Amino acid sequence: MNNFNFYSPTEFVFGKGRENDAGKYVKKYGGKKVLIHFGGQSAQKSGLLDRVKSSLEQAGIEYKELGGVKPNPRDTLVYEGIKLCRGENIDFILAVGGGSVIDSAKAIAMGVEYDGDFWDFYSGKQPEKALPVATVLTIAAAGSEGSGDSVITKEDGMLKRGAGSDLLRPRFSIMNPELTQTLPAYQTACGATDIMAHVFERYFTNTKEVEITDRLCEAVLLTMIKETPRVIADPNNYEARANIMWAGTVAHTNIVGVGREQDWNSHGIEHELSALYDCAHGAGLAVIMPAWMEFVYKHNVMRFCQMATRVFGCQMDFENPEATALAGIKAFRTFLHGIGMPINFDELGAKREDIPALVEKFGLGDGRTGGFVHLSSDDVAQIYNIAANAEI
Ligand code: NZQ
Ligand code: ZN
Repeated sequence: MNNFNFYSPTEFVFGKGRENDAGKYVKKYGGKKVLIHFGGQSAQKSGLLDRVKSSLEQAGIEYKELGGVKPNPRDTLVYEGIKLCRGENIDFILAVGGGSVIDSAKAIAMGVEYDGDFWDFYSGKQPEKALPVATVLTIAAAGSEGSGDSVITKEDGMLKRGAGSDLLRPRFSIMNPELTQTLPAYQTACGATDIMAHVFERYFTNTKEVEITDRLCEAVLLTMIKETPRVIADPNNYEARANIMWAGTVAHTNIVGVGREQDWNSHGIEHELSALYDCAHGAGLAVIMPAWMEFVYKHNVMRFCQMATRVFGCQMDFENPEATALAGIKAFRTFLHGIGMPINFDELGAKREDIPALVEKFGLGDGRTGGFVHLSSDDVAQIYNIAANAEI
């Protein structure tokens, strides 16, 4: 196991009705004038926004509102948010929504405290200050409610890029699984896929002797395999929703990834798809992640056999370990298909002829990237090709 620091300062406030305490927690963390940031319509329609506002009013906290965050959140609204916060002397940002809303809130939080262009933080610069951010989570997926990451798309050229800093970790995150009961089945499945991908990015490692994190990863994956079909069949199943919601946070605070080298190529390769086609990140991952596995499994066949046997219940074939590894990957793709995810370019709405452009935008040039297997541009093109043509 490698040396590590684990820093997860967020207070997670979990369970039924907890959004009614939003005002109390903003007060606890020093917010006096809040920007409530939200998405398209789900939070208004469900009445959540009204409940959050009345909670702030009861706590005597002033607020302004900025809605309209789109999935794959855009830089244009971030600029608007920065201007609004400065003009109104906002000192705290409360994101009410999913990963897109939270990531947009984090971008605004950095931008308000910075004289230059906030996009610098999505081009490698580290922030020195940021307004405090907190969340009321409405979808189990990105894990942004506990992570120090934010992913924003620059509208000019549709460049999707990430920023990371511990300053972005939310002060608190309110997580009421009931709020996720209004999700369409497709969004629920996209979220589940993203959660599993966050685990796999960490599970496939070259670091030896990481039994505890291996087993934690497998626990999250097994939970997702059990609970996702239950919520797809019955969207109001609170207990299954609750397990998935906490799994989403555990998958991405990095508690399952400490002390080990991680990969993250599938995410980078997917981000080009959601940037170009504006598809859901989870749907893009359903197409890319098994393709990436098929491309790299020979690098460590026994690790893929471990996944196949421990996570997907495949029989180990000691005569032919490669067959076991491939059976595990097939079981993963079949599971994703079963929960309604696309498995190839046609089903996602992506085009084979765009592959050279996707590789170009991925921007590797002659370099290599990735923790588990160092991929070249050529390798990335091959993964897009496997993804384009995948079948069950
Ligand atoms: O805008 P509204 O109307 O709220 O609709 C949203 C949106 O259309 C809807 N939704 C959310 N909660 C709902 C609901 N509909 C009904 N009932 C509810 N309770 O769901 C749609 C998707 O929402 P979004 O926030 O985009 O989903 P998600 O949480 O999957 O976030 C995706 C974004 O997060 C990034 C992705 O790249 C993508 O841009 N990621 C962020 C990460 C991070 N910050 O740590 C890590 C991830 O790997 C990921 O890259
Ligand atoms: Zn993700």
